[in-house]
Amino acid sequence: MQTDRREFLKGTAWMGAAALAAGCASEGFKLSVGGSMQGYGAPALKKVRVGFVGLGMRGPGAVHRIAAIPGAEVAALCDIHPERVAMQQKWLADNGKPKALEFTGPEGYKAMCESDAIDVVYNATSWNMHVPIALYAMEHGKHAMVEVPSAFTLDECYALVETSERTRMHCMQLENCCYGEAEMLALRLVREGKLGEIVHGEGAYIHDLRDLCYADWAADFSKYGYADFWRLKHNVAHKGNQYDTHGLGPVCEYMNINRGDRFDYLVSLESDQFNFEAYAKAKFPNSKWKADLKIAMGDMNTMLIKTVNGKSIMIQHDVSSPRPYSRINRVTGTMGAFEGIGFIGKDGEPADKVNALLMDGCVGKFGWTENPGDPVHGYFDENTMQEMREKYRHPLWRPEISDVAKAIGGHGGMDFIMDLRWIYCLQNGLPLDTDVYDLASWCCLAELSERSVKNRSSSVDIPDFTNGGWKTAKPLGIVDIDLEKMGFNPGDVKADSSALNV
Ligand SMILES: NC(=O)c1ccc[n+]([C@@H]2O[C@H](COP(=O)([O-])OP(=O)(O)OC[C@H]3O[C@@H](n4cnc5c(N)ncnc54)[C@H](O)[C@@H]3O)[C@@H](O)[C@H]2O)c1
Repeated sequence: MQTDRREFLKGTAWMGAAALAAGCASEGFKLSVGGSMQGYGAPALKKVRVGFVGLGMRGPGAVHRIAAIPGAEVAALCDIHPERVAMQQKWLADNGKPKALEFTGPEGYKAMCESDAIDVVYNATSWNMHVPIALYAMEHGKHAMVEVPSAFTLDECYALVETSERTRMHCMQLENCCYGEAEMLALRLVREGKLGEIVHGEGAYIHDLRDLCYADWAADFSKYGYADFWRLKHNVAHKGNQYDTHGLGPVCEYMNINRGDRFDYLVSLESDQFNFEAYAKAKFPNSKWKADLKIAMGDMNTMLIKTVNGKSIMIQHDVSSPRPYSRINRVTGTMGAFEGIGFIGKDGEPADKVNALLMDGCVGKFGWTENPGDPVHGYFDENTMQEMREKYRHPLWRPEISDVAKAIGGHGGMDFIMDLRWIYCLQNGLPLDTDVYDLASWCCLAELSERSVKNRSSSVDIPDFTNGGWKTAKPLGIVDIDLEKMGFNPGDVKADSSALNV
């Protein structure tokens, strides 16, 4: 079994030519140049000045959320398309916020990262730009907050780890699902020991994105769609689970991955491709390139992970089947079980509607026994569950915070709670809830699962990015925010529905 980074890199020598051709770092990789980032709190920032890059469907919601947080500032805006920068600048002016610096063009992010006017780069660009911008940001003394998935290959993951350690800049993946109401309730139940020792976790990203993938987009937002078809292009080229973190992130927190346990190996099995190509043929008879496009990605990918402590995880990915949205979020232990996510499509609403995601309310179901060895034949009745949801609600979902989070929006409020929390951590010099090692461990599975699929689902080792730090790192606790210290007054916050929040 390969455990440390250097050994693992030796084991990936088969990748050599492709990796080097891509200018990647594995050949020259050094261990812990600046020391581990586990548990590291960067010097406290009185004001957190944020520069945003990528103002498509996702970025504007982040601008609006950060603008609502005291002690945070929307200091800079950047997109290839000047129209998209102008729209957010107008939103700031309309909402009485200070004007932000503006950067445009494909390399405008470089000048933004070099600027002394920002402390953090919030990266909501297309997938190909996550790593180059994050690396450039850290090299120029900026913390890198990166949308999901932050990276796709081992080399990219190693480059982010090495750069974060050397520069002492945080590199955090913006995994909002770790902050969902049901996911945080489950974490609290796990920490209280209600489910006993955790044995197995399941998650997924099941979301019919066929319409968005093929949609022609427009810089002026007159249409939905991924800029320049970036997601479709990725699906054309890759198999494997290319978007695992929404389902995986919360499960890793329950199971203390990188903090007492770590991934050992995976196997990944994928169906062939049926739905994307049939959809395009049916919907675009007049567009030859869409109707004839071959997609490498199968419809359903199922990945199984074994941890070194003997636990198991199942993660699925399907963005092309006509079926309702799901992230599963199931966790089972020696005393009980939990399943459910913090928001789902509204009853009866078709799964292909973007606003099927815009829902609040906690739908987690659970049950446990107080007596070891007793069976749990069903979940608690609804009244008992409601009582338990109140009793074990995560403090970040108390009404003072969650009412504001729901009003501001972003996947039923979890996006706001995530942003509020990392801003609070930076303001107080605290370690962030997830670090560059979590990012790397979760994201490298895109390449490793693809490798397994292409090799008849054979098992693939998963490296230890923490360099042994997982053995002593402390599990994530039930963290909180001191609202008074932050100067956060829920009454000051206005509801905002102007962002798409897909
Ligand atoms: N966490 C979540 O729930 C969630 C939800 C949706 C999307 N996302 C992630 O957010 C990211 C963006 O997704 P989206 O739906 O907004 O895509 P999008 O195509 O609508 O937006 C991407 C934007 O990035 C800009 N861009 C691309 N390259 C750039 C560069 N070099 N410099 C400046 N700007 C550049 C594009 O012009 C576009 O405006 C993706 O990584 C996606 O996976 C996360």
